[in-house]
Amino acid sequence: MIEWRDGTVITIDQTKLPHETVILEIKNVDEMAEAIKNLRIRGAPLLGAAAAFGLALAAFYSKAKSNEQLLADLEKAAKIIKSTRPTAVNLFWALDRILTKVRGFSGTDHELKTLVLQEAQRIADEDAEANRAIGKNGAELINSGDVILTHCNAGELATVEYGTALGVIRAAWSQGKKIRVIATETRPLLQGARLTAYELKRDGIPVTLITDNMVGYVMYRRIVNKVIVGADRIVQDAVINKIGTFTVAVLAHEHGLPFYVAAPKSTFDLTRKAEEVIIEERNPDEVTHFSAQLVAAKGVEVLNPAFDITPLKYVTAIIAEDGIYYQRDFAKFEE
Ligand code: MRU
Repeated sequence: MIEWRDGTVITIDQTKLPHETVILEIKNVDEMAEAIKNLRIRGAPLLGAAAAFGLALAAFYSKAKSNEQLLADLEKAAKIIKSTRPTAVNLFWALDRILTKVRGFSGTDHELKTLVLQEAQRIADEDAEANRAIGKNGAELINSGDVILTHCNAGELATVEYGTALGVIRAAWSQGKKIRVIATETRPLLQGARLTAYELKRDGIPVTLITDNMVGYVMYRRIVNKVIVGADRIVQDAVINKIGTFTVAVLAHEHGLPFYVAAPKSTFDLTRKAEEVIIEERNPDEVTHFSAQLVAAKGVEVLNPAFDITPLKYVTAIIAEDGIYYQRDFAKFEE
């Protein structure tokens, strides 16, 4: 959820959920960068819309007296936003889309400001539309009786509206399909326990929470029969998503379960291979602490990559707004 209201970007502070619903009112680029860095705003599609509105804020409040100066302000703002989180491509895609549009624009500075805001709004509106289409396309893969495992949060909270992986689940549920969801808690920041469980419970969709290390057991016991996750970046040879996704995919493969990825085209980055993508490394405190409580041996060395890489051979299909991509289509990703 995100919207532009007269020079303010309104969204929910996701770090406070599920206990409190705190509305964030963001008024400048630095506040936007802080919110993204600290995961108040998170989820690849939402990061795209937030980055776009960040540029809209820079344009709206710019004191530039010329078009060139305004453009320089926008380039500076884009640089700040790009330095927040490196992995989800939507953030870079949205900023570059707006910058490409405004570079070389010859109208007045007022027209240029309007153009930036209009394009940001378009990016947000398109994401809402894409998610509905992903939901509709993906619901065809879901049957009554399915128990679907999802990892992290690819829901309404992670997008402008509706959700990608949870959008598919929502669409199937609204068609009357009797389904249930198994949500992994998603260590270290618990997006599954805090956000996915919250969204599904709120909507009355049956959800059961497990810890990440229970995935093998629930598959072995046939407690789940499908997996749907979102993505932060889809490259020529892999899906990059929340840390733990690869483990889930390998386990699904081992148990012969379909592993689906739901993502809008703004998450596709088919000019790159996985090895070229920077995987964000986050603060060790996220691993050594639960909330503010230290739970690990003091001073222990920590590894904290926020995402992992799932080779496409483990992916049954990718559900996008323009259709469903299968293994036979993945070969074309390199063309
Ligand atoms: O670190 P996060 O919470 O931003 O990571 C989010 C994910 O990995 C999601 O699965 C992904 O962005 C898809 S959201 C529709």
